[in-house]
Amino acid sequence: MARVIVVGNEKGGAGKSTLAIHLLAGLMQTGQSVAVMDLDLRQRSLAGFLANRRAWLNANSATAPLPLEPDAFTDGAKLARASEEEQLARFEAAFAASQQADYLIIDTPGGDTALSRAAHGRADQVVTPMNDSFVDFGLLGEIDPVTLNLKRPSIYAETIWNARKDKAIDNPQAGLGQIDWLVVMNRLAVFDARNRRRVDERLDILAKRVGFRIGPGLRDRVIYRELYPFGLTVADLSEQIRPVEISLAHVAARQELRSLMQALGLEAGADVIADDLDAQQAA
Ligand SMILES: Nc1ncnc2c1ncn2[C@@H]1O[C@H](COP(=O)(O)OP(=O)(O)O)[C@@H](O)[C@H]1O
Ligand SMILES: [Mg+2]
Repeated sequence: MARVIVVGNEKGGAGKSTLAIHLLAGLMQTGQSVAVMDLDLRQRSLAGFLANRRAWLNANSATAPLPLEPDAFTDGAKLARASEEEQLARFEAAFAASQQADYLIIDTPGGDTALSRAAHGRADQVVTPMNDSFVDFGLLGEIDPVTLNLKRPSIYAETIWNARKDKAIDNPQAGLGQIDWLVVMNRLAVFDARNRRRVDERLDILAKRVGFRIGPGLRDRVIYRELYPFGLTVADLSEQIRPVEISLAHVAARQELRSLMQALGLEAGADVIADDLDAQQAA
């Protein structure tokens, strides 16, 4: 059975697709087989990334690992027009086909859809990127505007709560809490320490109340988006695959990705870029 990792947050632009793509590339780089499903039928950022990847590899006669994309789920435009029932049936078929892989990574839309709920109900792990802002925090918990204390968990926390309940009903022996939920800050700025400290404090309180872990964040870096048109990520860069000049920022980004993977209990490969840079410096 594939380990199911759902990247979710009911807000657009939080970094779900970016995280999904990087986890995918990071896992494939270690030789794991990975299946993917892109449930954002409108944006299709993950599917678009993979189309770019195939085109770039082809044009450059290069090879890099590709994930399994279950047939039942590849025609996004058609799926977007299909009924909810049809979409869910396709989801089931694609989910079943994915089980031959070691991992299944599911990217979700920034909203509450039947498909997204189905995916959350199947997750072994949920990763939620958010910006270190009280605006994003609002999806996890409600803050008192005067005291800034936590009033109650809110919509996305409820989605996870329901997914945990669904899983508990499917598998009563395991009980509640069998979805490992990791929240990570994305697009962290170098400065702005004061706001971040206040968000962090409240995030800690919420983490205990609704049951998530807080993972290492990703900084706001050009490298996380500049390789998208090539269908590549920092995890793919090697001596053969190098569409841009490699810098120390790439090494730092690789390290952030490795830390994130470790927080999820995933094996992160050896850092060939850092080795490369060391070798370059030595030469
Ligand atoms: N850590 C980051 N550094 C720089 N740009 C980022 C980072 N994370 C996301 N982005 C950019 O932010 C935008 C939204 O990210 P995306 O992954 O598409 O979010 P979502 O899938 O949640 O809607 C994209 O343009 C993406 O390239
Ligand atoms: Mg997206």
